[in-house]
Amino acid sequence: METKIMKAAITTTARYLPEEVITNKDLERILDTNDDWITSRTGIRERRILRDPEKPTSYMCTEVARQLLDKRGISADEIDLIIVATMSPDMVFPATACIVQGNIGAKNAWGYDLSAACSGFVYGLYTGAQFIESGNCKKVMIIGADKMSSILDYTDRSTAILFGDGAGGVILEAASEEGYGVLDARLYSDGLNGKEHLLMPAGGSRLPASHETVDQHLHFIRQDGKQVFKAAVKAMADVAEEIMQRNHLTADTIDWLIPHQANQRIIHATADRMGLTEHKVMMNIEKYGNTTAGTVPICLAELDEQGKLHKGSNLVLVSFGAGYTWGGIYIRWQ
Ligand code: COA
Repeated sequence: METKIMKAAITTTARYLPEEVITNKDLERILDTNDDWITSRTGIRERRILRDPEKPTSYMCTEVARQLLDKRGISADEIDLIIVATMSPDMVFPATACIVQGNIGAKNAWGYDLSAACSGFVYGLYTGAQFIESGNCKKVMIIGADKMSSILDYTDRSTAILFGDGAGGVILEAASEEGYGVLDARLYSDGLNGKEHLLMPAGGSRLPASHETVDQHLHFIRQDGKQVFKAAVKAMADVAEEIMQRNHLTADTIDWLIPHQANQRIIHATADRMGLTEHKVMMNIEKYGNTTAGTVPICLAELDEQGKLHKGSNLVLVSFGAGYTWGGIYIRWQ
């Protein structure tokens, strides 16, 4: 008898945003910037910060993981695999995924961190889906989280205004019916062009921590905004279009575009290429800024909480980030 390969479906979503808000006005007090510039160039009005040094990225992930278990009504023992997408792990090692596994007591789970910056969750979702489709795992937890405040240089106005802290996640399981779940994905990377335009120069094996690297602020995010902007607009729109064509999706049949939230202008350019009107585009950049790997799952969880995802809803997730990494995923909500 032929065994049917079921696609992976998201059965639960959750998010965690720290309570403390930093507005553009707050940034005006520490940087040569202004609310008008930030709002018109990026769409960001405020972002969240987890100031407590005792609460690293794993804290936010653990909050998400506990909510996921609660909402799904299962115990941690049922989780087979935990993937944490992050570029601000608690430490280089051990993996933040292992810390989360320990915190929630998921004694049957293995886990690892995935480094793909703002595309981390999209990469993670597709990776997790493979373990479900192969039948190797029944329940996979995918969490995207970044404590961006830990790697931001608050004396650099070109980056400090853009990012915020936050986390989101999902549980993936086999779809209950054919034709639902994660139906398609196209993932890309371009290390040749990406590696010099968006990076944290020190702290790895290339430039280990030293007095000099600290003095030169090399443990913070560095970005050539213009280059990244150009690359992001092209890549996100291209991959969104590719996903539409491959799956015969049209502006009418798509219910939601869930794009990475780095800049409102990048999101508009992607939506325009897809021919989508604003009411089909998930946008929360004004509240949270760019939460890197947290962004896409936070968007998903917010839509889910608002009751905007229905059986059969066609979702297109697209992201772009350091690496460069980018990708698109087509999900038919079950
Ligand atoms: N406040 C006020 N002025 C600022 C500023 C700030 N926070 N940051 C830069 N400026 C100034 C610049 O110094 C420049 O001044 P000049 O014209 O006198 O030289 C001017 O504003 C324009 O700067 P520029 O960098 O050309 O602005 P931009 O329109 O490209 O917007 C970003 C900058 C960062 C918002 C934009 O490039 C961007 O969003 N890039 C992609 C970011 C991204 O996606 N990153 C994450 C990876 S997904």
